Amino acid sequence: MSKKEAPKHASMDQFKVSDGHLMTGGKRIEELAQSIPDDVPFYVYDKAVISATVENLKKALPSDIHVHYAIKANPMPELVSYMAGLVTGFDLASVGEMCVALNTSMSAEHISFAGPAKTDGELTEAIKAGVTINLESENEMRRAHRIGEKLGIKPKVAIRVNPDYDLKASGMKMGGGAKQFGIDAERVPETLKELGSLDLEFRGFHIFWGSQNLREESIMEAHEKTFNLAAQLAQSAPDTVKSLNIGGGLGIPYFPGETRLNLEPISENLDNLLPTLRASLPDTEIVTELGRYLVGESGLYVCRVIDKKVSRGETFLVTNGGLHHHLSASGNFGQVIRKNYPVAIANKMGEKEQELVNVVGPLCTPLDLLGNKMLLPKAEIGDLVVIYQSGAYGYTASPHLFLSHPPPEQLLV
Ligand SMILES: Cc1ncc(COP(=O)(O)O)c(C=O)c1O
Repeated sequence: MSKKEAPKHASMDQFKVSDGHLMTGGKRIEELAQSIPDDVPFYVYDKAVISATVENLKKALPSDIHVHYAIKANPMPELVSYMAGLVTGFDLASVGEMCVALNTSMSAEHISFAGPAKTDGELTEAIKAGVTINLESENEMRRAHRIGEKLGIKPKVAIRVNPDYDLKASGMKMGGGAKQFGIDAERVPETLKELGSLDLEFRGFHIFWGSQNLREESIMEAHEKTFNLAAQLAQSAPDTVKSLNIGGGLGIPYFPGETRLNLEPISENLDNLLPTLRASLPDTEIVTELGRYLVGESGLYVCRVIDKKVSRGETFLVTNGGLHHHLSASGNFGQVIRKNYPVAIANKMGEKEQELVNVVGPLCTPLDLLGNKMLLPKAEIGDLVVIYQSGAYGYTASPHLFLSHPPPEQLLV
């Protein structure tokens, strides 16, 4: 009987290797590390990888589907400015993100703002800026109306719909069941009636069902349900539906055994669904809202081996990076069972001599684990550990202040 092989990480071939050295932006990682003050760990995002990803996606999708970038995935201002040249619009989760977005070449016309608990102050800022507010509740709708009246500006609004389905096999389900996000689909017709009586500019619908999905069939099913729901809700709309956000959900492979999505069946399915939708919504701009799919694969997190030790037979690479910089790679950002991100030693790529190691950080908790029993090229003190798939939900999704170590730097190359 043949022995079953352990599942492997997807190949991280978006980055070149030259002469045993991992490269990004045409430079060796060690060279970049030398440019970082105080030798602190850093994130580096590669523009060429981002461009290739966005262009491939745009080429694969029907031309009717516009790609928006969800800034929450990576709000680094230089990266967001770069994204402004690649996508049709931005989606925001806060006024902080709005400030970043409005500092780019993207016009407010193509920016929308979702998220529960928008304060009156935040609504005021968004209305003044002219971005579309994705309404999360009836109360928020009434507040937007009142604030608009006071400002003498007609707020642009869309209804965020909490669909009556969720995304199967998703990393994160954002719709279906009872949720703090959006207005339950069955209540939307009533809400639209009230919206029509208020001084609000109705833009359309935002239907977000989940994220980090690697199953083509579940994404296709969610698209079909979303298109049907949109056509049904459009019948109660007080005005033409100018925009329909069909959600995002496309995932990237993080863990052993996961593979990249095949866009072909997803695109084919959209092509098949579009004619029926177009019969009821001929001029609506259709948007897909993506974060990690666009930028996640472009990012590396880099830290240095400060100590190497053996404890009761296990080898530990003790680095200056860890959970406080990269919560999701440590497994503490929503993972039920901890799994390893893809890891490499930047200056020893492809070396034959390997050993089983744990990659840990400087914090006083065993949760500070970046790699658990991984087979890596034999690393020594001073070598650079790299974590792939770190372009989204890394830097800003991590508790930098925990234990007061220096924060990581960020580079866009
Ligand atoms: C409303 C909304 N849009 C976009 C996203 C981005 O998801 P992802 O980065 O997985 O594409 C999320 C993720 O939580 C979200 O809640």
